[in-house]
Amino acid sequence: MHVACVAPECVPFVKTGGLADVIGSLPREIASRGHKVTVYLPFYRQVQSHFPQKKIALQSITVPFQYYNRFVAVIDGGKRDGVQFYFIDSPELFDREGVYGTQAGEYLDNWERFGLFCRAVLEASKQLGVPDIFHLHDWQTAMLPVFLRSIYYFDPMLRNVGTVLTIHNAGYQGWFPPQTTERLLLPWDIFTMDRLEHYNTFNFLKGGAVYSDALTTVSHKYAEEIQTAEFGNGLDGVFRKRAADLHGILNGVDYSKWDPVTDGKIAAHYSAKDLDGKAACRLDLLHAFGAGHIKEETAVLGIVSRMATQKGFDLTAQIIERLTFEDIFLVVLGTGESYYENLFRSLHERFPEKVSVRITYDETLAHKVHAGSDIYLMPSRYEPCGLNQIYSLKYGSVPVVHATGGLDDTVEEWNPESRTGTGFKFRTYYADEYLNAVQRALAVFQDKDTWHTLIRNGMGLDYSWAKPSEEYIKLYKEVAQRRS
Ligand code: ADP
Ligand code: GLC
Repeated sequence: MHVACVAPECVPFVKTGGLADVIGSLPREIASRGHKVTVYLPFYRQVQSHFPQKKIALQSITVPFQYYNRFVAVIDGGKRDGVQFYFIDSPELFDREGVYGTQAGEYLDNWERFGLFCRAVLEASKQLGVPDIFHLHDWQTAMLPVFLRSIYYFDPMLRNVGTVLTIHNAGYQGWFPPQTTERLLLPWDIFTMDRLEHYNTFNFLKGGAVYSDALTTVSHKYAEEIQTAEFGNGLDGVFRKRAADLHGILNGVDYSKWDPVTDGKIAAHYSAKDLDGKAACRLDLLHAFGAGHIKEETAVLGIVSRMATQKGFDLTAQIIERLTFEDIFLVVLGTGESYYENLFRSLHERFPEKVSVRITYDETLAHKVHAGSDIYLMPSRYEPCGLNQIYSLKYGSVPVVHATGGLDDTVEEWNPESRTGTGFKFRTYYADEYLNAVQRALAVFQDKDTWHTLIRNGMGLDYSWAKPSEEYIKLYKEVAQRRS
């Protein structure tokens, strides 16, 4: 089978969140199981340094718009681990400071950037190889099935291609003005309530959700949640309508990069059998956060995150003052919305002995936080999957999480009687409940023997791609069969 993964980001080329980690490993896993896999990405400025010598696969593809044509090239990114990479090169749209926008806001022409991307991929595939399945990821790629089932409907080369759309985050949908319909040269009859019109906006994700053959989300719980008004972000009705074709497939993680036994970014190696190295990692982390003096009995709490409302920073801010009465030290690594960046800077100023903050994007430091912290905080309002709590489990940093989406699916509440479980959860998004969960963790932290059982439970879990990639392959086959 030939699967073409179409995505807006992918490690090591360009990353703003966990989606990039997923695209950096899932295609490789599919390829290693004997399938042909191609990945299409935009040729952003951030990607350029990886390809100082641009190897051109296709010189010029015409992408028509309402009043003009754009001409894009396709760069051959070569094969890595059995996966062929192609990049859509349109300097006027992708050679920019940001990936989706800047601190000033999202780029207003994102409809054009990602509309062009989808159409260019369809055209490119006709010359480079039409796949059996287009596997699309998030709203930026959701226009592909819309084009495919509307203006490309009669194309004999593309008729039998199946589409699978994975929703990594229903909070981002790509809303644009109604005129986007004709600017992308789409017929007005798709701009209706049961297709992609959404409260008088042109909604990319809704289009993808309506027109894709199958939909997936990145955990079972989130697949249920997005069918409710609370989590569907206005699309819950659409997701309910597609319930029979909507599957929850939990993300895997890449243990070749995220395992304390082999991780080259941390101060010392350790494993569930031999935890000794974790102490050196903890000290190394504290030094990096200017807190080398913190005592051994103090619990080090860690956070690595995009600073966005989704991630529950408001809740952490609400409990900080009460947390300072506990024997803790909190390290926070993140960048994002300036409101949260400033809030956490000011919390560090208020409680310099309890809180240290690094407002930056730093991969090495992210590894150090997982390896060096005792407890990992992830109180997200909602979390489609979440990779950080899965990393923290492997590094023996006990997660305290809001029981939502993938957080609920991957963390099991500690049970002192059976000595089973891997972390601590709170069910209602409410500061007191969160604080209570952190305090439950701190109470167990006092008893080192029990604590080691708890962290070993987490370190022993396997969230590799082995199972999820089989689930995707099964779904690809079903969809391909339906289309043939
Ligand atoms: P999301 O995709 O919603 O941001 P995930 O938990 O799925 O959440 O993935 C987040 C990814 O981004 C992880 O790989 C995490 O390590 C990384 N990350 C987030 N913020 C930072 C940061 N400031 N520095 C380094 N890595 C970060
Ligand atoms: C999104 C979600 C996150 C998920 C990631 C990868 O960014 O917010 O929960 O882990 O995608 O699927």
